[in-house]
Amino acid sequence: MADTDDIQQAKYYHHDVPQQNRAFYLKGAGALDWGMQNRFARVFRPDTGRTVMLAIDHGYFLGPTTGLERVDVDIVPLLGHVDALFCTRGILRSVIPSAPAVPVVLRASGGPSILRDLSDEEIAVDVEDALRLNACGVGVQVFVGGPNETKSVHNMTRLVDAGLRYGLPVLGVTAVGKDMVRDARYFRLATRIAAELGAQMVKTYYVEDGFETVTASCPVPIVMAGGKKLPELEALTMAYRAIQQGAAGVDMGRNIFQSEAPLAMLRAVNAVVHEDLPPRQALELFETLRHGAAGSDGA
Ligand code: R5P
Repeated sequence: MADTDDIQQAKYYHHDVPQQNRAFYLKGAGALDWGMQNRFARVFRPDTGRTVMLAIDHGYFLGPTTGLERVDVDIVPLLGHVDALFCTRGILRSVIPSAPAVPVVLRASGGPSILRDLSDEEIAVDVEDALRLNACGVGVQVFVGGPNETKSVHNMTRLVDAGLRYGLPVLGVTAVGKDMVRDARYFRLATRIAAELGAQMVKTYYVEDGFETVTASCPVPIVMAGGKKLPELEALTMAYRAIQQGAAGVDMGRNIFQSEAPLAMLRAVNAVVHEDLPPRQALELFETLRHGAAGSDGA
């Protein structure tokens, strides 16, 4: 308890300085509770309003896919260069160090493997466990137009309700079935449904034609998923265009951890996202880092 002797009279009231109500910097997040905004602020850098999230959750339906065979060996050394990590609680508890702390968004849906219908997911994490893990958010797949559309949307809305009780944001992930068209019209539909039904952030794929209409019509921040491995210049170009067309960051996996030089690629993606570095310059940065001692992987 504070010492009660010699208590000084309070006098610094700064009558001439009005208290400010600061607007929260993320789109659609102004009316969220303090705890949820604070979690957002750990994922999206306050100086840029953007994030480089590294997605390594693929094992939840794919098993040990290329680049993620040994997360402890190949991914942990990258963590100092990510704003947030998107992963399962199993990988988090088993191989991700708790210090230095990396903000985590937990994969919170799952069930079917690659051998079955991937849309047949259930909620796979209790919100209390996400809080126990000090997660900054939970991610859940929605299969708009898929055979389990309603179930997957219901998974999301149940997590949104639980997350609102504790200030935990939900990332709605728009999953696209094999036979579905990946165009701006579809992603406008899927991202808007996720946001309307409560997701505080949405992950979706980039499309060449009309991506800016997807970001414009979604009232919450969008992060871009990377998709299958592309040549580095193509992946950097895609990330650059997504950011310039309104994405609030990326949640990329394979284009980073399946790169021949994941650390160099991650640093180049960082420059694209946070410094608006154009793709050709980002590729030069990648090549420099890849061949230089400072940034090369394993050097
Ligand atoms: C899909 O398996 C996961 O939700 C990934 O987090 C997502 O697809 C992003 O990873 P990638 O950039 O490899 O597509």
